[in-house]
Amino acid sequence: MLNVQAVRRDFPFIRPGRVYLDSASTSLTPEPVLAKMLEYYREYRANVGRGVYTSSRRATEEFEAARKTLARLINAKPGEIVFVRNTSEAMNLVASGLGLRSGDKVVTTIQEHHSNYIIWLREKARKRIDLRVIGADASGDLNLPDMQREIEKGAKLVSVTHVSNVLGVKNPVEEIGKICRENGALLLIDGAQSVPHMRIDVKRIGCDFLAFSGHKMCGPTGVGALYIREDLQGDLEPLCIGGGSIEDVGVDYYTLRGGPYRFEAGTPAIAEVIGIGAAAEYLMDIGMENIEAHEADLTREILEGIQGDRRVKVYGSLDSGRRNGIISFNVDGMDPHDVAIALESAAGIMVRSGHHCALPLMKEVLKIGSGSVRASLYLYNTKSEVRTFVETISKISESAKGSTA
Ligand SMILES: Cc1ncc(COP(=O)(O)O)c(C=O)c1O
Repeated sequence: MLNVQAVRRDFPFIRPGRVYLDSASTSLTPEPVLAKMLEYYREYRANVGRGVYTSSRRATEEFEAARKTLARLINAKPGEIVFVRNTSEAMNLVASGLGLRSGDKVVTTIQEHHSNYIIWLREKARKRIDLRVIGADASGDLNLPDMQREIEKGAKLVSVTHVSNVLGVKNPVEEIGKICRENGALLLIDGAQSVPHMRIDVKRIGCDFLAFSGHKMCGPTGVGALYIREDLQGDLEPLCIGGGSIEDVGVDYYTLRGGPYRFEAGTPAIAEVIGIGAAAEYLMDIGMENIEAHEADLTREILEGIQGDRRVKVYGSLDSGRRNGIISFNVDGMDPHDVAIALESAAGIMVRSGHHCALPLMKEVLKIGSGSVRASLYLYNTKSEVRTFVETISKISESAKGSTA
């Protein structure tokens, strides 16, 4: 069980009059993470991997400890964790590093965030890869038979989101992983919306790459991670090379280091890496299962609360067991941005509105080019906040009825 009142005391942003329901965009950051980063700046501010003096050695140790913690979070080896800026950079690294050639087949889906979509459109334009986009229905179900057919006919890579950032629906990544393994396809999972909210095991999924961001999991901005299966690292070309990533350099040659260092050129975001490690510790101390159960509870309450209102249209499956705490909806006759503004002015509720960086899904599947309102939950949200949200939506929808009657 998660003690939500104790959790809330860790988050300085939380105070009376604020209801933060935008964690799918970016999460709040707790004191232990802030303190850990500040400690670096105050106590051992030095570069990593270079100096032999005490502060530099301590910085390197804390930096590498964060790598170990993230490895524990997703059941990988520390050497399989590469630090990057965010999920977008992680997936760019895979797209550009694989050395895709004309005719190589990449399978992705219509549900993807732009960060896992336009990278493949670019490879299509640049290299003429054979890009296949798997469809989905409005409840969020991917066309799995179609995906299986495409993989069986020969795919180099499948790139799919674990949880849709619009619909909150969890995709069957283990099943997809099995199909990929049986057919020799690589699998990249966009874990931006799953790693912060549930227990992830890269071995069980059977993926080759997993991308996620620190700022969505109670960590700082500017840091994320890419899991790269150990035996694939040597075949992947880094996005960026330079100091820290080399084994040897001569006048007319260079050789790159092995392991994650190959991909981490230049001075990294040291405080942020230490911060993402602290965030992963924080989440694991609370328990990923407890976080998932807490969010499921709140999601059920929201879905039951707003579903009853005929003027509110909720997108994606209404089965709370199939989704995490992301709820996209529209109020009949209202622009999503106006609903978001009304939520804040009426009750201090902060939500996202717009296309949520998923225009193909919005246009082709949900047919809502103007977007939706999205409320998203995390470990610090409470039942009372959810009730306030449901009541406020009901009042907003009632007033919209009045103005359009
Ligand atoms: C599913 C998904 N993928 C990728 C991203 C991109 O993450 P970042 O902005 O941290 O690179 C997001 C961000 O919202 C997301 O929800």
